[in-house]
Amino acid sequence: MSVKEKVIYQIYPKSFLDTNQDGIGDLQGIKRKIPYLKQLGVDMIWLNPIYPSPQKDNGYDVADYLAIHPMFGTMKDFEELTTTAKANGIEIMLDMVFNHVSTEHEWFKRALAGEKKFQDYFILRDEPTDWVSKFGGNAWAPFGETGRYYLHLFEQSQADLNWRNPAVREELFEVLRFWMSKGVKGFRFDVINLIGKDEVLQDCAENDGKPAYTDQPIVHEYIRMMNQASFGEDEEIVTVGEMSSTTPENCILYTNPEREELTMTFNFHHLKVDYMDGKKWTKMPFDFAKLKENFHNFGTKMSQENGWNALFWNNHDQPRALNRFIDAENYRVAGAKMLASAIHLNRGTPYIYMGEEIGMLDPAFESIDQYVDVETLNAYEELLEAGMSEEEAFEIIKTKARDNSRIPMQWDHLEFSGFSNVAPWMSVGKSAKELNVARELKEGTIFNYYQRLIRLRKEYSVISEGSYEAFLPEHPQVYGYIRRCGNHSLLVLNNFFSQKATLDLPEEFLSGEVLINNYETEKLVERFELQPYQSIAIYI
Ligand code: GLC
Ligand code: CA
Repeated sequence: MSVKEKVIYQIYPKSFLDTNQDGIGDLQGIKRKIPYLKQLGVDMIWLNPIYPSPQKDNGYDVADYLAIHPMFGTMKDFEELTTTAKANGIEIMLDMVFNHVSTEHEWFKRALAGEKKFQDYFILRDEPTDWVSKFGGNAWAPFGETGRYYLHLFEQSQADLNWRNPAVREELFEVLRFWMSKGVKGFRFDVINLIGKDEVLQDCAENDGKPAYTDQPIVHEYIRMMNQASFGEDEEIVTVGEMSSTTPENCILYTNPEREELTMTFNFHHLKVDYMDGKKWTKMPFDFAKLKENFHNFGTKMSQENGWNALFWNNHDQPRALNRFIDAENYRVAGAKMLASAIHLNRGTPYIYMGEEIGMLDPAFESIDQYVDVETLNAYEELLEAGMSEEEAFEIIKTKARDNSRIPMQWDHLEFSGFSNVAPWMSVGKSAKELNVARELKEGTIFNYYQRLIRLRKEYSVISEGSYEAFLPEHPQVYGYIRRCGNHSLLVLNNFFSQKATLDLPEEFLSGEVLINNYETEKLVERFELQPYQSIAIYI
């Protein structure tokens, strides 16, 4: 099967299913739910980091790339999971956190102990620059008692690796080969466009210093080296790079097959449309024009230059899209389907984040004590320091915290939502009693809609292969696009509002066939009206 026909499902292992009743999800839990994932129809599952880690950033602070964190199980559990998944037509994608390691990693400890070889694994300088850490504060911390500083673009305990050092690259490429030998067929590369740092690092007042270390030309070279040294030899392997603050031009370079870099890239521009003045920790309604402009910008350019997008609304770093873009109180079901269609019929590879297929929501926590993420807690402190009241700061935390998506999966109506028999590491969402897998499979329609979308991608080459062009880019309510492949075309219309929307259907589509629609099929007439959050796809 071509990668363009595949759909990937993301699992946050800590919160998927707990089988040994310690309140933490585990590999056996994922294995137990393989039949559920098969029923949904996905081809690959991406697991967030499962390696030994002090969990300061929930596993994105890796202490050993070549082992399994005991709380998730053993290497044998991992092998069993891979085998069971494969037997059900599902491959495994692992998360590779190669920009930094935990300060608990042996490399950092030996560097601190004075071993020159390992000091060269990190970015050490006599003078810090003015760069700001993505989790708040300056991005440099004292390197022991040496009077020097080490770079940490994220949390203090996540020390950036020195990719200029060939020995570091070789260590990391070996990590890939190790997991390939275990049958892993996918890699997701964490913040991979940040790995290229200059020899001489300079202050950069603009945008917290991002331009000084983001998408440097050398990143493309490093990725190509990585490709050649590992996954490039196996055509089946799927790779996706997580790109922080990137551009379509760079994403084309990262993914055009001729360049032998990656299969596809995640970018986040479409999710920054509810950031006031570009700042995440603010609260505002989403800017629809901006959302659409970002989709069209990436969609069109990637299509013209043979790049490939990873398409997604949700992940472990984002509050639920249903809470951000939809009036979920009144239109949760229609809205969930509309969002799904908007990306599953689009050009690129769709990702489903666990729970999305049943229309899960943010947890509606009532107290700051229910939040655990380091980024959230730092942001809360910063908001208070900036003079906000606790209520004001909490309102922002509620809408933006990464914890929103990290709560336990809602399997059934029981006390801990069928995730565990004991209190989980994070509180269960408020809606779990009504909104869970058991009920959805019995009487819901969202799961079934996702099944159909996944099937359509495999049946219609216009969905998997077609080009992308914007349709009615100026429409105030509708995000529309046209896909074309050979003699076939697909028009996809998505109403992003709870008011009806009207538009003129192009003549060529009036005689078309409705492939999927989240309302009852109606007549295709020139002056066409879309219902609240309606999504319809017309095929000719
Ligand atoms: C990525 C991950 C995020 C993590 C960060 C640092 O953005 O998705 O969860 O905190 O990288 O590794
Ligand atoms: Ca467990």
